[in-house]
Amino acid sequence: MSRVRTLPIQTASAAYSMLLGEDLLADLPQHLGDIFGERPRRYFVVTSPEIWALWSEVFLSGFAADGGPAVLLLPAGEHHKRLAALERLAQQLATAGADRGSILIAFGGGVIGDVTGFLAAIYMRGLDFIQVPTTLLAQVDSSVGGKTGVNLAAGKNLIGSFHHPRLVLADTGVLRTLPPAEVRAGLFESLKAGLIYDRALFEFIERHTEALLRQETESLTHVIAESVRIKACVVSQDEREAGLRMILNFGHTVGHAIEALTHYRGLLHGEAVGWGMRVAVEASRKRGLPDTDADRILRAIDALGLPSLPRLTARRLLNAAAGDKKRIGGIRHFVQLDRIGQASVVNDLSDDELLQAIRRGLKLGQ
Ligand SMILES: NC(=O)c1ccc[n+]([C@@H]2O[C@H](COP(=O)([O-])OP(=O)(O)OC[C@H]3O[C@@H](n4cnc5c(N)ncnc54)[C@H](O)[C@@H]3O)[C@@H](O)[C@H]2O)c1
Ligand SMILES: [Zn+2]
Repeated sequence: MSRVRTLPIQTASAAYSMLLGEDLLADLPQHLGDIFGERPRRYFVVTSPEIWALWSEVFLSGFAADGGPAVLLLPAGEHHKRLAALERLAQQLATAGADRGSILIAFGGGVIGDVTGFLAAIYMRGLDFIQVPTTLLAQVDSSVGGKTGVNLAAGKNLIGSFHHPRLVLADTGVLRTLPPAEVRAGLFESLKAGLIYDRALFEFIERHTEALLRQETESLTHVIAESVRIKACVVSQDEREAGLRMILNFGHTVGHAIEALTHYRGLLHGEAVGWGMRVAVEASRKRGLPDTDADRILRAIDALGLPSLPRLTARRLLNAAAGDKKRIGGIRHFVQLDRIGQASVVNDLSDDELLQAIRRGLKLGQ
């Protein structure tokens, strides 16, 4: 069996690990036993029909014939990350007799992870859950850190809770069936992690763009491990996003605005963040980010390959960004880049500066 890396995540309220390696999925029952003990517990896996069709055989292969988890299905897509889905799943849990000792398994991308985590946070006031992320984005970012929730029409992730998983099992083998656009979307979140915190990760992605897009296992594993290390480091210092953790939202002010305005159907989350980072780079350039860094970042973003932007005006984006929950007490908190590998949160970015940055970053006219 290939090497398994154990990446620790430690915060004020939780300590758990990500197990990272190739073809780990079949060993899931053994890891569940390690964490939850041999006492029989009921497991419920939340997944989408597509993922289950591809991977249920491997997923179930390690469970005893009569000991597999019950399966709850959530259709794929960001537009299903809503309260309605949560109620349906909770009702199914209740019908199946789930109790306080039941354990949820999120088996899917960030949408499944965020919904299942939130379901675990509120069903009977809290169940244990684990993350088995199946997209690159979920492996590099969303499966760790404890943010869970759903969207409203008014904006992304407006309803949610902090609830950490007890374990994250990231099997890079599962990524083999991932469409190329989803790989790219995940790489944008890793690029973000490098930009805000670790120049070496940024440069690694820059140098290995082609291998990463080809899903070359060794490079991909390095990027996942480094992204998670960075996220764990940030989250351990500021679990509840009182300050530092906000830097993980680099590129997300406008990224979320694009998603909300296109009703969560226009671009993948990671792609919207890719566009949002272009805007954040342009805003940062006016506030001290050296031109050489700014141009280099834009080249790295474009090398990953951004799909074209849905038709939107800069004004509408500005208005949508104004509703962003990064506003606290009416003040917009904006993550600006000081240089590659270092970000800071500022609260004096004016609407006009943001509007100009949107125009430049998204190459929109007036
Ligand atoms: N909680 C956090 O800290 C955090 C961080 C970043 C992003 N997010 C959230 O994550 C979500 C985006 O997650 P995502 O990019 O994983 O999207 P996603 O969950 O929508 O998955 C993308 C698509 O890939 C399919 N898929 C998943 N795994 C597959 C596989 N192995 N093979 C083939 N197809 C597969 C899914 O069915 C889906 O259609 C957004 O809602 C975003 O807000 C949360
Ligand atoms: Zn994100």
